[in-house]
Amino acid sequence: MSLKTQSPVNFNSWKELKVLSKKEFNLKSLFESNLSRFKDFSIHLDDFLIDYSKNLVDKKVVDQLLKLAHEADLKHAIQSYFNGEKINETEGRAVLHTALRSAKNNSAKVDGIDIYGDVQSVLAKIKTFADQVNSGERKSYSGQKFTDVVNIGIGGSDLGPQMIVEALSYYQTGIQPHFISNVDGDHVLETINNLNPETTLFLIVSKSFTTQETLTNANTVRNWFLKSASKEDVKHNFVAVSTNISAVEDFGIAKENIFPMYDWVGGRFSLWSAAGLSIAVSIGSENFQGLLDGAEEMDTHFKTADFESNMPVILALLGIWYNNFLEAESEAIIPYTQYLQKLAPYLQQASMESNGKSVDRAGVKVNYQTGTIVWGEPGTNSQHAFFQLIHQGTKLIPSDFIGFKKPLHGNSKHHDILMANYFAQTEALMKGKSQDEVHQELEAQSLSVEDIQKLVPFKVFEGNKPTTSILIDKLTPKSLGKLVAMYEHKIFVQGVIWNIFSYDQWGVELGKQLAKNTLKDIQSAKIENPHDSSTNELLKHYKS
Ligand code: F6P
Repeated sequence: MSLKTQSPVNFNSWKELKVLSKKEFNLKSLFESNLSRFKDFSIHLDDFLIDYSKNLVDKKVVDQLLKLAHEADLKHAIQSYFNGEKINETEGRAVLHTALRSAKNNSAKVDGIDIYGDVQSVLAKIKTFADQVNSGERKSYSGQKFTDVVNIGIGGSDLGPQMIVEALSYYQTGIQPHFISNVDGDHVLETINNLNPETTLFLIVSKSFTTQETLTNANTVRNWFLKSASKEDVKHNFVAVSTNISAVEDFGIAKENIFPMYDWVGGRFSLWSAAGLSIAVSIGSENFQGLLDGAEEMDTHFKTADFESNMPVILALLGIWYNNFLEAESEAIIPYTQYLQKLAPYLQQASMESNGKSVDRAGVKVNYQTGTIVWGEPGTNSQHAFFQLIHQGTKLIPSDFIGFKKPLHGNSKHHDILMANYFAQTEALMKGKSQDEVHQELEAQSLSVEDIQKLVPFKVFEGNKPTTSILIDKLTPKSLGKLVAMYEHKIFVQGVIWNIFSYDQWGVELGKQLAKNTLKDIQSAKIENPHDSSTNELLKHYKS
């Protein structure tokens, strides 16, 4: 069964939510009038606590949002997703990244064929490879132990692995990870200039193995490598991850050094597959398994929990409330750990490439908002950068605050300061500071009445800014797997309700097509392709 095609605007709950959105939601009063608000609007499951009580919702809103999920037939959609039905209809593919982390659920089938055995054997190959690289059993062409591993890929073949490797750098085994993604030659050269070709392992990750950036970078790296080694040596230091086996072989990589990817795993959800080889090498096979286990735990929660206590469902519904009813355009992700500094860029692709669509599942232009803009930076750095706008600007920016109870290196003095900021910011965003409070504060500083009057408007904080606190015991491979899977499912739920196809990405094709012709114009003497006058003049200037 494919996903139903039904516009959400026709649902009763949607209409009710439209009415409810006209109401005033004052967080301070909502807390005063409901003493069990925290209990009513939080989900605590094992090492995860999600407090969504500081959001602009009351029970009526949450009830209607839950109704919306039911009216959209989310329950069946979840079954279709996990059962491997071809819910990526425009590409005729199943969406089964969940099968990659499924040790227990061995029932997923694609085209009637059981995929469990294949997934497990590739996983075993990934782990063996990571173990051999880490132990030194697998050697470089010059017989040395590898010291560095370079992932060459872009988009989903880069952002996920890079985010995880950086997030779990505390658990690193000693092999230094590097990532080359941008076709910017300076990026490649900056990376390889400091590397020793004799002890560097290169992983070329490209699901299609046709991506211009990745192939250009891979060729540049191979040419650099061949300055010190022979073509025969490539098989020792180069490995590829792809679905396009013949293109990889043409590149010169030996068959035994190719790890498969599957067309039923979207690039942006592929970090759990062999695309995550850099993760397995960098944190070791056991930790890689921990990451998968954590994700599977979230999968089980998502599949089985009632919607009212279902973390991805609640996060998705809150996002829809702000996006479609309170007119927010973006949402911020603020992790209070430097380890998660790549989480927002990773989620940008996961969410914006998935739900940045304006045509519904019937191929009709939507008359409501879909995917939001996702952005963010770790706290406390972001407090000194863009928090001014969240506190006192004109835009509504619901924000996820992600914090951990324990630091990894045990520096509790720093951690307490960090977390004091984490708690204080959500409180400040909610409470704000009234005119009276500002008055009193300035009076205490013995300012003149005139100065006080002048300053007050600038020092008032309206407050009532919504936040969700995600408080996790500790950053481990397992909890990170859970966190990432939680956001993956949030994206899925929103796509189901928005009645769009979340797993294709046709919107990235046009720019790629035009770039090919533009490159010809740059490389030939004359500009032959028809361009608009602005582009023409820019090209002329570039070539001059
Ligand atoms: O340009 C978008 C995209 O197709 C992403 O969806 C994908 O993650 C990325 O390019 C890289 O693709 P590939 O793994 O095929 O090189």
